[in-house]
Formats: sequence, structure tokens, C-alpha cells
Amino acid sequence: MNIAIQMIKNKKLLIDIIVGARPNFIKVAPIFKIYKNNKKIKKKIKFRLIHTGQHYDYDMSEIIFKQLKIPKPHVNFNIGSGSHAQQCAKIMLKYEQTLIQKKSDYCIVVGDVNSTLACSITAKKLNVKVIHIEAGLRSNDMTMPEEINRIVTDSISDIYFTTSKYAVNNLMKEGVKKKNIYFVGNIMIDSLMNSLDFIKKPEIFKKLKLENEKYILLTLHRPDNVDNIKKLKNLILNLPSKDRLKIIFPVHPRTKRLLKNIEAHFKFINFIDPLSYFEFSYLLKKCLIVITDSGGVTEEATVYSKPCITVRNNTERPETVIDGTNILVGNHYKKISNFINKAYKGKWKRSKIPEMWDGKTATRILKILYNFQ
Ligand code: UD1
Repeated sequence: MNIAIQMIKNKKLLIDIIVGARPNFIKVAPIFKIYKNNKKIKKKIKFRLIHTGQHYDYDMSEIIFKQLKIPKPHVNFNIGSGSHAQQCAKIMLKYEQTLIQKKSDYCIVVGDVNSTLACSITAKKLNVKVIHIEAGLRSNDMTMPEEINRIVTDSISDIYFTTSKYAVNNLMKEGVKKKNIYFVGNIMIDSLMNSLDFIKKPEIFKKLKLENEKYILLTLHRPDNVDNIKKLKNLILNLPSKDRLKIIFPVHPRTKRLLKNIEAHFKFINFIDPLSYFEFSYLLKKCLIVITDSGGVTEEATVYSKPCITVRNNTERPETVIDGTNILVGNHYKKISNFINKAYKGKWKRSKIPEMWDGKTATRILKILYNFQ
């Protein structure tokens, strides 16, 4: 064989994997889990893990790396908090330098956070092909920063890995060629399934005398819900305040700042620090019902068959409502107590696990990457 052709054939692909925020870490862990023990793939692909530092607290980042055995990043840009423009600009400058020093063949971005947007644009401008995991989600709500991030990222991606047929349809409606879309399933569920033997009862379970299926788990962090104190108060006031069910609220740092002034008024809620992935999974698996504004939590609740109320008017993950356990209440907070009663009486809607949320998504993704040149 011609030496030049042989060299091209043997060329190892350098693929960047970008992570920045808590849900990103959970979505890439399954790729490394499989990669670690697969000599064949290792021969063909080298990953360069890049942490932008968008999330930086121990509870928001390091603990998840430890629990999910994610390798140490090649580099951490340590960009920290800031406005959207500040975060994106800092990430773009740093990633551009990284790519100029050593250009990769592909750049994998996941989800919809600012790190996803910033790195996809930077890679594309340097002619690095962009692969988007969790592509095609659409809430059709352009007031959400995540929706802007998704749409921009998908508009410049080369390869699309999707979690559902709804996402495939969204991309095709926007003109993406079918041959570039791969319906591979939900990689976050790989992490959930890989962790089933490791989920861990948090200390507060004993401290607060929690009992299985006798408490409500609450998570809120979206700007639309937590940046407006009046709205946040109104939401909390519509939660059951005295009776049989305890409310546990692991507070995201963003929400913590805002709650500082009002926490004292809501003694019936147990505000706790963010939990590790294994501990949060435990609380979710054992709760009666979860009330949330996180997309990822609605997916996990569906797989655990846990009743789930989303305090948003829309979702980019319709399968969690159509197939899963999720219902949307939007701003109609008064409905919440009725739904809690339904869960209490065991009268939640029937649900099933969406197609290909089977814990094998990372395997499918790596198989596809292996065949890339
Ligand atoms: C980001 C994502 C959101 C995702 C969420 C998961 C964007 C636009 N949003 O929102 O899609 O659902 O992550 O958690 O990218 N903070 C800390 N410590 C940290 C991280 C954040 O104290 O480790 C505080 C800072 O005050 C910061 C605020 O939280 O200003 C918000 O953080 P940021 O990364 O801007 O957005 P999130 O709300 O976490």
C-alpha cells in the first residue's frame, strides 16, 4: 500500500470533548467509561477533555468527576461566573488558543450551556468539525438562554446525536440532512444506569428522618423561576406547608443567593447544599414526587418512574410528558397540591421509558465515531 494512504488510514483522530457545567459532566462520563477498556477504539481515537470552568464549586464539579470516574481534564479554562457575554467570550478566547496550539479533528459539545455554544462557534471557525450530543431539543421559547444555545449550536454542527425522534424531526424541519443525524438515545440515562449500584443515602436522610416515598424533592434554578423573588415566593407558598410530607430542596448556587433573604420565612422547607450525583440519585429514587425546572431531572424521574411536576410552560423534552412521568404546570402553582395528592394516592399517569434510553447510548456513539476518518 502506498505509504501516504497507509498513514492516513492509521491516523489517530484527536477529538475534543467540551464540558463546563454540572449536567455536561454526567453526559460525558459514559463515553470515558467505555473508552477506558476498549483497546480498539483507543488505537483509533484520542480524546482531549476540556473543562471550561463554568461550574467550579467542589459540589458542582469535582465531586461528579470523582464519582463518575471522569479523567482529569487536559486543561481547565477556569472561566468562572459572569454574564453570558463574559462567559462565552472568555471561553472562546481560551479555546481558540488551545486549537491554535494543537488543532483537533472534531469537537464534541453536549447539551445547551454557554460552554456548548462558545466552543462550537470557536471550533467551527477554525474548521474543526462539530459534533453535538443531545442535538435537536427545542422548547420554542427564545427567552431561555439554553434555547438560543441549542439553536446556534445545531445551526453550525456537522454531526447530530439525538435522544428522541422528536429531536430528529426538529432538526429535519430546520433543514439538517438525515445522513448527519444519528438517533442514539439518551446518554444521561447511561450514567444513571451505570450508577445504580453506587447511589448513596445522603446524611440528611437520617438527620431529617426521611422515609421512602414520604417526601417531596424540589429543584429550581432557571432564571425565569428564581430571578424573580415575587414569583419564587409565590411558587413556594403553593407547596404543602404542614402535613405529612417533608420538602427537601438542594439549592443550586444561583438560587442560594436569591433565597438568602426569604429562607427564614419558609421554615417548612429543608434547604440543603447541592448534593453529589450519587446522593441526588438516591433522593430522587426514593421520593414520593419531584418538583423541578430542570430538563435532566425530568428524564431521570421518567426512568425511575417517579411522578414529576415541571414548573415551566414548555419542555424541550416532550417524551418525558408523552411517554414519561412528567407533567407541566407552568405558572399555575395552585395545581401543584392536587397533583401531590394524586401521587400520594398512587394515582399518577401510566408511563414508559422512551425508546433507546437503555444505558447503551455511549456504546452507539463510540461505534459511530470509530468509523469516522
Ligand atoms: C447553567 C446552564 C443551564 C444548566 C445549569 C445546570 C447556561 C446558560 N446555563 O446554569 O442550562 O441547566 O447550568 O446547573 O449555561 N455558581 C456558583 N458555583 C458554581 C457555578 C455557578 O456559585 O460552581 C453560581 C454563580 O453565582 C453563577 C450562578 O451560579 O453566577 C449561575 O451559574 P451559570 O454557570 O452562569 O449558570 P447556571 O444557572 O448554573
